[in-house]
Amino acid sequence: MEIPFSKWHAAIPHRRSRRNYDSTDLEPDLLSHMQNICRDFRPFPQARAKLTTQSPDEIFKGIIGHYGKIKGAPALIAFIGKMDDPYIQEKVGYLGEGIILEATAKDLATCWVGGFFRPKVAASVVGTGENERVLAVTPVGYAIEDFSLEERIMTGFGRTHRRKRLAELVTGLDQAEWPQWMKSALEAATLAPSAINRQPWRFYVEPDSITVSVYGSRLEFGISKRLDCGIAMLHIEVAALDYGVQGKWEFLETPSVARFKI
Ligand SMILES: Cc1cc2nc3c(=O)[nH]c(=O)nc-3n(C[C@H](O)[C@H](O)[C@H](O)COP(=O)(O)O)c2cc1C
Repeated sequence: MEIPFSKWHAAIPHRRSRRNYDSTDLEPDLLSHMQNICRDFRPFPQARAKLTTQSPDEIFKGIIGHYGKIKGAPALIAFIGKMDDPYIQEKVGYLGEGIILEATAKDLATCWVGGFFRPKVAASVVGTGENERVLAVTPVGYAIEDFSLEERIMTGFGRTHRRKRLAELVTGLDQAEWPQWMKSALEAATLAPSAINRQPWRFYVEPDSITVSVYGSRLEFGISKRLDCGIAMLHIEVAALDYGVQGKWEFLETPSVARFKI
């Protein structure tokens, strides 16, 4: 499937993590549209997504505290990776964010959940094959209209949505020399969601490339930072494509993640 870049680029600023749902079922057409996207958006054969309406609450159950508490979602999408691929975390991040942006474009609410769910229950509900693991899930549905007090507490009254400035994240070519596509791609990357909003990505820019690397240790809360970086990669590519710029990703060794070269 080709990336519907204009639609996904437009969805980026509208996406917010939502955790309280009103449990209204998805209309059948919309449900099958999302199931088809999960089937068709397969940028890497080792990563896949599966939607289920079976037991989302069971998968999110048993969470202590506020963070990660998802309530009332009528459906869930599991992001699944083959663990013998050394780049599986970034591939799952990239794939999953495409699906999340499609859901956003369809006015559905989502929330990446990487640590605070029951992976074994998720695996048995969606079905996993040899070497496969459910690396993350998202609820899908209609969020209760306004942020409830509980949800506002959960997001630190908006703090978990705040982003670092580009100047803190980018090295290399001077900002005055960035071509338009690059500026747009980097701005889109900063809007990417990340676990506990840690924004672990750093960008090294040259006239024809953006190299994404990961800052700090690999794992926190049991969630790989390379998964977050894969999400930012999708945002970079979608924004570049929307500027008519095509590039290719080359995967790199830690602490680098991948280079987008036009
Ligand atoms: C890989 C990943 C894992 C996440 N895991 C959780 C989680 O377990 N529970 C949760 O409530 N939010 C989780 N989040 C959502 C982040 O907290 C959220 O994306 C971040 O605070 C930025 O806020 P925003 O998505 O509203 O822009 C996760 C996000 C990512 C990208």
